[in-house]
Amino acid sequence: MERFICGECLEEMKKMPNESIDFIFTSPPYADQVKDYGTTGIKIKPNQYDSWFIPRAKEMYRILKSNGSFVLNINDKLDGKFQSLYVFKLVVMLVEQVGFHLVRDYIWYNPATPPNIFSRGNMGRTKKSHEYCLWFSKSDSWTFNMDAIRKPYSEKMLELFQAPDMGNRNANSRPSRHNFDLSHTWKNNGGADPGSVISISNTSSNDTFHRLCKQFGTGHPARFPESLVDFFVKAGTNVGDVVLDPFGGSGTTAIVAHRLGRNFKYIEINPDFYDIAQKWFEVEFSSDKVYSKNMNNFCKNVIPTCKWQLLPFGFLYDLYQAWFPTVGLYEKPQTKEAFINRLISYLANDDNLIIYKDRYFTVDGTSMQMPEPLIAQYKLKNWMNDDLNLICSPIIQKKYKGIYRKWQVSA
Ligand SMILES: C[S@@+](CC[C@H](N)C(=O)[O-])C[C@H]1O[C@@H](n2cnc3c(N)ncnc32)[C@H](O)[C@@H]1O
Repeated sequence: MERFICGECLEEMKKMPNESIDFIFTSPPYADQVKDYGTTGIKIKPNQYDSWFIPRAKEMYRILKSNGSFVLNINDKLDGKFQSLYVFKLVVMLVEQVGFHLVRDYIWYNPATPPNIFSRGNMGRTKKSHEYCLWFSKSDSWTFNMDAIRKPYSEKMLELFQAPDMGNRNANSRPSRHNFDLSHTWKNNGGADPGSVISISNTSSNDTFHRLCKQFGTGHPARFPESLVDFFVKAGTNVGDVVLDPFGGSGTTAIVAHRLGRNFKYIEINPDFYDIAQKWFEVEFSSDKVYSKNMNNFCKNVIPTCKWQLLPFGFLYDLYQAWFPTVGLYEKPQTKEAFINRLISYLANDDNLIIYKDRYFTVDGTSMQMPEPLIAQYKLKNWMNDDLNLICSPIIQKKYKGIYRKWQVSA
């Protein structure tokens, strides 16, 4: 079965076998949000939310393995003057009607929540800077890997590990009256219990996904941070398990699950999101394939249209950077050096080419210092098209004007 599925999740989940999924991590459209962010313009009212979600939750329950879990990232909203109860009602129904067990109500705290009208303090409440990540199990035993999500111990704790026995409870009373038994030495578990508040700023704006969106003129308005997915997938699954996101959006769950060695299923109703998620996946995990497709295209279709006899690699690098976003395949940023090495190895058997690996180049018996350490030379017959504007931005033309004049090909 396909890993990336474009469709309505209720219908798509119905096609999946019973007990075939280990873990579901998802964030459905919240109440009063446009359901598919643009295609239908449909919003689900808070008072209709459970009747929309419960049939989907029942499918999730059916396809989960008995030791599987479902983590629901959701947020509530104001309903008139007060906070809506739709999330709380939904939790009760997921337990009482669907059969899930509530394992822990995790809080995703976003310290970077921007100020809003509530930040002024005159609306009777603060801004809301957290969302819920509600962990449900299907049965009374579920996969949970504490060691995978432990956080580093504090300095104080590390000191305690070094110390000998430290006394009895009375010597260690806290204002909360919560005492630790320090009559024995502390056991180092490799890290501390991370607790139930996960603090992650949702501020990423220049990662591979965003650059792809820029290139293809698209985006996703409700992407959750990769580290949020990372936390839950590490905690709730083992390598090789199948993770499903039925409201897949940008593909963040799929990408993170794959990165962690898990299998995944992604369902998304909006074809634009489905498309960009797959592009992100390709760039992320098949970067060598993407680089060679781009390089192949560049060498076959772009270099031969250059009218200069000498092509400094710096120029080719700039040209490549300006060119590849126009051809439909994005790639992860690479350094100039990496690009040059790829280009040299790609062109290694090209008879039309001489590569000068040092800064000197001989013209008519005279050795000349070149502005770039690496120069490629093509036979003139390959440079028939002299319309520089086809391939070269005005900035690049200006930058390399001197070389252009000096080595201009004469008729
Ligand atoms: C809150 S967003 C999820 C974003 C995702 N967590 C991410 O990081 O990109 C909800 C997504 O569900 C999709 N969606 C809405 N209704 C759907 C349905 N019935 N079946 C499948 N996808 C749906 C929307 O198009 C949207 O991309």
